[in-house]
Amino acid sequence: MAPATLTALAEEKTLQESFVRDEDERPKVAYNQFSDEIPVISLAGIDEVVGGKRAEICKKIVEACEDWGIFQVVDHGVDAKLVSEMTRLAKEFFALPPEEKLRFDMSGGKKGGFIVSSHLQGEAVQDWREIVTYFSYPLRSRDYSRWPDKPEGWRPVTEEYSEKLMGLACKLLEVLSEAMGLEKEALTKACVDMDQKVVVNFYPKCPQPDLTLGLKRHTDPGTITLLLQDLVGGLQATRDNGNTWITVQPVEGAFVVNLGDHGHYLSNGRFKNADHQAVVNSNCSRLSIATFQNPATEATVYPLKIEEGVKPVLEAPITFAEMYRRKMSKDLELARLKKLAK
Ligand code: SIN
Ligand code: FE2
Repeated sequence: MAPATLTALAEEKTLQESFVRDEDERPKVAYNQFSDEIPVISLAGIDEVVGGKRAEICKKIVEACEDWGIFQVVDHGVDAKLVSEMTRLAKEFFALPPEEKLRFDMSGGKKGGFIVSSHLQGEAVQDWREIVTYFSYPLRSRDYSRWPDKPEGWRPVTEEYSEKLMGLACKLLEVLSEAMGLEKEALTKACVDMDQKVVVNFYPKCPQPDLTLGLKRHTDPGTITLLLQDLVGGLQATRDNGNTWITVQPVEGAFVVNLGDHGHYLSNGRFKNADHQAVVNSNCSRLSIATFQNPATEATVYPLKIEEGVKPVLEAPITFAEMYRRKMSKDLELARLKKLAK
């Protein structure tokens, strides 16, 4: 049975069975064994097109997308005060008593609100995290009855945060469109009516962090994700199919940017869709805020440009809804085969 919230479980000495992962899925690298392999790119001067720094910055972004599909940005223009307000409110939300958080309970398929773990797709093992999530774009998707009404100020701050992050995401997509030799709006246009969903993750300290994950290994399905993380650490990435993992070094005020499956397919595989996961620890809790920019469900998923002599990564164009359906059924099939093999 899923607990009402994780706070009580965090105080226990042993991990509840439902959070214990198979050995091959457990963390291989500690949450604070940081690596600086993921590039940290300053965006200062990115708008200076003539004689400015734009070309140099774009080159770094493109190389990071080809190499890892994940990088960090600083000097990104999102006001530090807004970021710290967003972080403060998120922390205060998770510190509310369980009954307050559960007023926005998402179990039962509600769109937006609070839930323990990612127990949304019927996975056998739970993630060690609580989340609060809301849909922010397109504007018609804002169902305020599913947005927390506490702590005070949640709505105006989260709205402003969403707007600024949408702007930053579009700016980064312009760079990638140009790198593909296309007009700078090409990737945003391919999203039709870009969708944005914000997931605020709270990972309480965990009695046996070696046995579990805060968030299991995955690639994001959408176009581009911007992640704000605190300085605790726990985001891990791999670029050799899980043989080696690195823990991304937290950088104050930075956003971690990663490309999702949609971005990967549209670039015909040139830009990686970063495989990542989150690990937890027994010393302290961790907070991260993921802002996902996704295409509309009816948007077409197919490479925007195919170089001569290169095979397309997809046999035929499909909708984003179909891409997502295939991804989920592949995950379920892999889980079924794994269970059979035990
Ligand atoms: C995510 O992948 O959505 C979140 C990862 C993290 O919390 O570090
Ligand atoms: Fe993710």
